Amino acid sequence: MPDLFDTLTLRGVTLRNRIGVSPMCQYWSDDGKASDWHLVHLGSFAIGGAALIIAEATAVEPRGRISARDAGLWNDQQIGPLRRTTNFMKQYGAVPGIQLAHAGRKASTAPPYTPGTTRENRRQILPADGGWTPLGPSAIPFYAGDPAPQALTLAEIKSIQTLFVDSAARALEAGYQWLEMHGAHGYLAHSFLSPLSNQRTDAYGGSLENRMRFTLETASLLRRAWPEHLPMSVRISATDWVDGGWSIEDSVALGRKLKDLGIDIISCSSGALVEYAKIPVKPGFQVPLAEKVRRDAGIATMAVGLITQPRQAQDIIAHGQADVVQLAREMMRDPHWAYRAAVALNQRAAVKLPQSYDYAI
Ligand SMILES: Cc1cc2nc3c(=O)[nH]c(=O)nc-3n(C[C@H](O)[C@H](O)[C@H](O)COP(=O)(O)O)c2cc1C
Repeated sequence: MPDLFDTLTLRGVTLRNRIGVSPMCQYWSDDGKASDWHLVHLGSFAIGGAALIIAEATAVEPRGRISARDAGLWNDQQIGPLRRTTNFMKQYGAVPGIQLAHAGRKASTAPPYTPGTTRENRRQILPADGGWTPLGPSAIPFYAGDPAPQALTLAEIKSIQTLFVDSAARALEAGYQWLEMHGAHGYLAHSFLSPLSNQRTDAYGGSLENRMRFTLETASLLRRAWPEHLPMSVRISATDWVDGGWSIEDSVALGRKLKDLGIDIISCSSGALVEYAKIPVKPGFQVPLAEKVRRDAGIATMAVGLITQPRQAQDIIAHGQADVVQLAREMMRDPHWAYRAAVALNQRAAVKLPQSYDYAI
């Protein structure tokens, strides 16, 4: 049985254990550029023993940002500050990954920590107020009552796919060893997948095959651009949790195709395509999704969502429900979670902390 502290080798990269830090938008970049904040935020997870650290959704163009404070890799000035973070993470034994993203119809909002902003009242910032016009497969807004996004033309679809590839080249220069395409949470790729947000009548809409086209083409372009010896993941929302929306069966079909394209592993999140979905949130609620995609599509998966307990994480790996566990909020609470998990599971020696900590605790 695999163990939480077993290594995992994908292509030429070896994770020191099965513990990953899930991408977390910090909304703390200026003109897309990382700062000292990112060095400390990401660096602390490397010190704490996590194996894989995927940096937050990083926009491939300014219009693809959720907010004006998002991270970006649409120009070369954004490379250097990220390289500082990847150097540090690598120095302390973690594999740095980056999630390339386009926010699609969910772009142009205020950072969630903005005073007065709640989940319920988060709305589009209009161009007249300093925002920009979001883009989507169809002119259907995310927030009812907001102006509709601009439906992309075929030429615009191609040019956004090129922006993904350009950003991947910058990610490589920034020192990343793992590339993730963001295909989840209602952002651009997911909005093409789901019939609830995609009502196109051309080759990118209608049938399942057509709705998968944007994700598959973009993943394929990225896979071919990204070096052969480095792994690539795709994060998906494995279900919309809405009847008539994207389903777990659709995710299995997508998983098979992504595998054929050379994608190494799928991160199985869920939801966030529409506001009204009823999500059965509880500890490990998305683990069955990772398990099903893994089993039925025959591709490695990462499980995420309310995984907080060492024993819970160990069981997910030992029972073959996923190949990697990803933690987000629990890592914010304790960036040294991997170390603590090893202690709790009587495997202290499995996590090697940096020397100045390791001899002392
Ligand atoms: C502050 C915050 C920012 C997030 N940003 C991203 C992101 O950039 N990309 C992404 O795919 N998911 C993002 N997520 C979702 C997390 O990666 C994760 O899937 C989710 O929080 C569930 O895991 P948890 O229960 O361990 O927090 C974010 C979550 C939080 C709390």
